[in-house]
Amino acid sequence: MYRTHTCGELRSSDINKEVTLAGWVQRSRKMGGMTFVDLRDRYGITQLVFNEEINAELCEQANRLGREYVIQVKGIVNERFSKNEHIPTGDIEIIVSELTVLNTAQTPPFTIEDNTDGGDDIRMKYRYLDLRRTAVRKNLELRHKMTIEVRKYLDSKGFIEVETPLLIGSTPEGARDFVVPSRMNPGQFYALPQSPQTLKQLLMVSGFDRYFQIAKCFRDEDLRADRQPEFTQIDCEMSFVQQDDVIELFEGMAKYLFKELRGVELNEPFQRMSWADAMKYYGSDKPDLRFGMKFVELMDILKGYGFSVFDNAAYIGGICAKGAAHYTRKQLDALTEFVKRPQIGAKGMVYARIEADGNVKSSVDKFYTQEVLQKMKEAFGAEPGDLILILSGEDAMKTRKQLCELRLEMGNQLGLRDKNKFALLWVVDFPMFEWSEEENRLMAMHHPFTHPKDEDIPLLDTDPAAVRADAYDMVCNGVELGGGSIRIHDAQLQAKMFEILGFTPEKAQEQFGFLMNAFKYGAPPHGGLAYGLDRWVSIFAGLDSIRDCIAFPKNNSGRDVMLDAPGYLDQKQLDELNLIVDVKE
Ligand code: AMO
Repeated sequence: MYRTHTCGELRSSDINKEVTLAGWVQRSRKMGGMTFVDLRDRYGITQLVFNEEINAELCEQANRLGREYVIQVKGIVNERFSKNEHIPTGDIEIIVSELTVLNTAQTPPFTIEDNTDGGDDIRMKYRYLDLRRTAVRKNLELRHKMTIEVRKYLDSKGFIEVETPLLIGSTPEGARDFVVPSRMNPGQFYALPQSPQTLKQLLMVSGFDRYFQIAKCFRDEDLRADRQPEFTQIDCEMSFVQQDDVIELFEGMAKYLFKELRGVELNEPFQRMSWADAMKYYGSDKPDLRFGMKFVELMDILKGYGFSVFDNAAYIGGICAKGAAHYTRKQLDALTEFVKRPQIGAKGMVYARIEADGNVKSSVDKFYTQEVLQKMKEAFGAEPGDLILILSGEDAMKTRKQLCELRLEMGNQLGLRDKNKFALLWVVDFPMFEWSEEENRLMAMHHPFTHPKDEDIPLLDTDPAAVRADAYDMVCNGVELGGGSIRIHDAQLQAKMFEILGFTPEKAQEQFGFLMNAFKYGAPPHGGLAYGLDRWVSIFAGLDSIRDCIAFPKNNSGRDVMLDAPGYLDQKQLDELNLIVDVKE
């Protein structure tokens, strides 16, 4: 037997027991005639003691142990003289009588501690060592618990887990596909699923009225803190449901998960906000509602006074930061620089402080009388000590998005985005289509199978851009945790949708024929949703990036630096696959 206990298990109640432990040497220190070794495994750390006076040879052996050696020890549990209250095993130590080195180790390239000296790149290259660190390991444990609770909840609601294939056909619309060449079908490619969307809809046709899958998804898109090319969805679909049924069931699941995994009771129904309001008041379809600073539009108040920037604007709007009038000129200049960064793209920022006497002191005082500025103050409901920040622009949507960035930055600066606070909401009534500059046509905002709102169906013929969809996203703290929709189950409506999206009937048949044909054989009304597992775990663990809850993530260039993937194929493989590689500069 390699071990009788783990390194996180022994307590005062075990004193005098003879035990065998196995694990990694975290660190060792020599103090006089004693050598202390911290032995680590997945469960914790236990202190080992070697006493030169009792067994000089054993102590000598212990002094030769290097960091991360794998060892096995036998000894007696002893009460510790100086207790360590920071670890659960801190009351005891092991007086070692036998030591076996199971394996030696090279000195690791960074310290395996919570506060490691290893930078991002080196930790990713040696991710298997990084995973030995408690902080990272805990994220994977949380992820494991999350999938267990998800399965419990969905099973209790009658869902069954069905696996769908990873080698499927390429479907356009959405992100770019990752593709896999087929050797047996020369010149042809599979695509890895961006989500099991069409397959889960086929399962509804098959009568599996409550399906779920913890599904790997692949999207070749630009990466960000909350995006990986390969990620995991909790993918669900239900038959004979309307929007409220889906929302209710998955709101229940969200509450269950918050309670089980974070001990947070969310008793109130989640707020529902239309997409139009989310854009109007927060400039984002995933507003962070942990704090206020709702946008106030100022077109009526500030236009027409000779300040050309505002006079020429299609949108003027601002936020009011409570109690932030103390911001210095330097801080305000830094905020102006922030919004002018190319990623944000604002041309400038106007500010106004509400002084103790209620007067408004702004950066554009020469254009506005105190009377006008007071009107603006009232529009915000601002009080002495508040700071108003204003952006304007010639494109209302773009300016709102810039103001959204400014709002989030102010939230950060004022400490209003507490990771232990959770603000959940449903964003509903998404537009059915969005205009694509790149493709010069309407594209489905969610996907082409999304059901339009019944009352908006007549608009499909007259004003498709105004059609809203039965689509919904769950948002928490400014992160989209999941999204879904009610689907079209009527072949005629689906055909119309493809027509508006610019597909010829032939093209629609070629790409989605399998689904449209299936729908001819009795498709039930259905809808569903997919939660992003990685994002959920990140919210629960308070992580800045979903990478930290993925065992072997990709870096920002989509590379696995540990495996050094992607890589080149040798000529033989290319020949077998009938591939010619022609890399353009
Ligand atoms: P959607 O594209 O909104 O919907 O994806 C659902 C959820 O998956 C997560 N997600 C991601 N997580 C990490 N990295 C990514 N690159 C990434 N992309 C998406 C998000 C998102 O909310 N088939 C539909 C769902 C449906 O309609 O039922 C779909 O895939 O949390």
